[in-house]
Amino acid sequence: MDGRFVNRVAVSVLLSAVAMGGALAVACSVVPDTAPATLAFRLPDQQAVTIAPFMVRASSAHGGQLVRHICAQCHALAAGGEGAGPVLADVVGRTVASLPGYAYSAALRQHGAQVWDDQRLSDWLTSPARYAAGTRMSFAGLPDPQDRADAIAYLHTLRTPSPTPITGENR
Ligand code: HEC
Repeated sequence: MDGRFVNRVAVSVLLSAVAMGGALAVACSVVPDTAPATLAFRLPDQQAVTIAPFMVRASSAHGGQLVRHICAQCHALAAGGEGAGPVLADVVGRTVASLPGYAYSAALRQHGAQVWDDQRLSDWLTSPARYAAGTRMSFAGLPDPQDRADAIAYLHTLRTPSPTPITGENR
């Protein structure tokens, strides 16, 4: 290994370092390194459906079947009942994550300034995980808006002492 060979290796290492540095500088100036403030696109099923028109023709009888079949696996429907989830009696109109004695996830408590009205329940039931990422309600969601409206109409009947009227506009 003579001196000229060592020189040539040193020069080529230097040249490639300069070339890589240049490429990095160009790449950084072309591609912004921060995420855009607003998403460039939304998946269709992420768009919140306005539930009011579905509430108008909601069937609380069908909703009752859904709730007793699906939700009651985890939720007690009457006050004082036990379940993995919080009691659903009086949930319509209740402040989010506010039932005394129930240990809500931090994810749901972040929504604690809000009230469960029809639209919010619909957004939540579309996909709990998307509504409150990290929620402990491990339920995929009710994709059909009429199913959601029916279930919400049934939740209205769980109000004490008297059910709230289903107006479709009690937001
Ligand atoms: C696999 C169990 C499970 C199923 C099924 C389930 N839930 Fe839940 N639900 C939970 C848990 C657990 C929480 C508490 C979530 C948290 O703290 O993140 C919860 C929370 C809720 C809340 C918030 C209540 C409050 O006090 O803020 C509502 C409303 C709700 N569920 C409605 C429903 C409805 C309606 C259905 C049926 C369509 C349903 N859930 C199905 C487990 C379940």
